[in-house]
Amino acid sequence: MRGVTMSLLMFMISCGMRLLGINGEPQVPCFFIFGDSLSDNGNNNQLNTTAKANYQPYGIDFLDSIPTGRFTNNLTAVDIITKKLGLPWLIPSFANATMGANISSGVNYASGGAGILPETGKNLGQRIPLDQQIKNHVTIIRRPDWNTDEHKCLYSINIGSNDYINNYFLPSNNQTRQLFTPEQFAELLICKFRLQIETLHQLGARKVVLFGLGEIGCTLAEIALYGPSNGSSCVENINSAVMIFNDKLVSLVKEFNVNLTDAKFIYINSTAVQLTPLQGFKVFNASCCMVRADDGLCVAGSRPCDDRSEYVFWDYFHPTYAVNALAAGSAYEAQGSPDAYPTDISHLVKS
Ligand SMILES: *[C@@H]1O[C@H](CO)[C@@H](O)[C@H](O)[C@H]1NC(C)=O
Ligand SMILES: *[C@@H]1O[C@H](CO)[C@@H](O)[C@H](O)[C@H]1NC(C)=O
Ligand SMILES: *[C@@H]1O[C@H](CO)[C@@H](O)[C@H](O)[C@H]1NC(C)=O
Ligand SMILES: *[C@@H]1O[C@H](CO)[C@@H](O)[C@H](O)[C@H]1NC(C)=O
Ligand SMILES: *[C@@H]1O[C@H](CO)[C@@H](O)[C@H](O)[C@H]1NC(C)=O
Ligand SMILES: *[C@@H]1O[C@H](CO)[C@@H](O)[C@H](O)[C@H]1NC(C)=O
Ligand SMILES: *[C@@H]1O[C@H](CO)[C@@H](O)[C@H](O)[C@H]1NC(C)=O
Ligand SMILES: *[C@@H]1O[C@H](CO)[C@@H](O)[C@H](O)[C@H]1NC(C)=O
Ligand SMILES: *[C@@H]1O[C@H](CO)[C@@H](O)[C@H](O)[C@H]1NC(C)=O
Repeated sequence: MRGVTMSLLMFMISCGMRLLGINGEPQVPCFFIFGDSLSDNGNNNQLNTTAKANYQPYGIDFLDSIPTGRFTNNLTAVDIITKKLGLPWLIPSFANATMGANISSGVNYASGGAGILPETGKNLGQRIPLDQQIKNHVTIIRRPDWNTDEHKCLYSINIGSNDYINNYFLPSNNQTRQLFTPEQFAELLICKFRLQIETLHQLGARKVVLFGLGEIGCTLAEIALYGPSNGSSCVENINSAVMIFNDKLVSLVKEFNVNLTDAKFIYINSTAVQLTPLQGFKVFNASCCMVRADDGLCVAGSRPCDDRSEYVFWDYFHPTYAVNALAAGSAYEAQGSPDAYPTDISHLVKS
């Protein structure tokens, strides 16, 4: 008799947990997103910049094929993570938050062309650098309609690519390259980034996801610009410069986890996801959309490839949704230790 009651109870508990999962009780009440075009969901739409994606064919696989300002054919990696967290809707852009969007689940401040350094991306026009994204966050959490506890939110920061693409390795920035070795430049970025993350911590960030940079020297844009290195299909001096930044970012995460004991920080290894024919990819050396020669973004109104899930690159810089889905999956639930350090997002939100 006792045994039967116990097993019934166990059954009910496990059913209850299942139902909770199905009903989509979110794993965090809110999600704040900082970054560049990899995360931007429309913040650049009204800015005077060439770095915008609110025209076709961007978003062709998004709900009703609407171009929202996302720099890909469907959802970005942070959008997919938002869904995995069970949040009720995609996080609104800051631009929309100032126009009445519901901010109760968080806000996305990311801006195409933006970097850790304020001057990064000025060659493209207006953008919202990380310092300003943090100021915009202050505006949000001081608003009377912000009534969630920001200490309970998840924070994602994916930035730094433009500090290399649209600053250090910009051909015209040879002065910067003469002044700073890749080691010194990475140190400069980390020094600034450390202060920015500390500010976010002071503003209540307690669960923070820091994305490492991808192999920027393997993007079609950089290969077109500099040519592949001897014995490689990528621009290896760019990759090695970026990996110095990544190594320093891992050290920063370790330091923060020691010093700031009321918070948890994780590093996502963006180079860990293997893109091979095994995942269904067939085209690695061409973009799905036809691109503009001057900036590598899609030609407005052009017809993209049909078999988008077979392409790694959507335009000359940005991955397709198929790649974003793999990246988001590995950030959320890491397959092995190099994918996420010291843990992945699914464990971070439970801690
Ligand atoms: C947009 O930026 C360009 C280049 O920075 C500038 O020449 C142009 O006047 C700006 N347009 C507006 C409407 O501000
Ligand atoms: C676009 O993303 C949504 C949400 O992840 C997915 O359900 C849909 O299948 C995707 N569309 C295409 C054509 O891949
Ligand atoms: C922003 O808000 C406008 C007006 O409410 C809406 O049409 C648009 O879809 C929103 N954009 C995004 C990216 O959410
Ligand atoms: C925003 O969404 C939350 C959660 O669904 C809801 O409780 C709240 O009333 C909404 N706020 C507005 C202004 O619509
Ligand atoms: C640096 O760039 C400027 C402008 O693009 C160019 O005039 C100059 O020759 C370059 N200097 C070196 C040392 O490459
Ligand atoms: C490329 O590498 C090969 C083998 O390491 C070497 O023989 C060749 O000289 C290199 N070419 C250039 C342009 O550096
Ligand atoms: C951690 O604390 C040490 C010793 O006080 C300090 O040198 C270091 O800068 C701190 N690091 C961070 C990321 O706060
Ligand atoms: C990231 O993943 C790659 C590929 O698995 C691995 O070589 C590299 O060491 C990892 N980086 C870190 C910082 O863990
Ligand atoms: C891509 O690689 C394939 C073979 O691997 C080759 O036939 C094709 O010309 C390449 N395309 C570009 C744009 O380099």
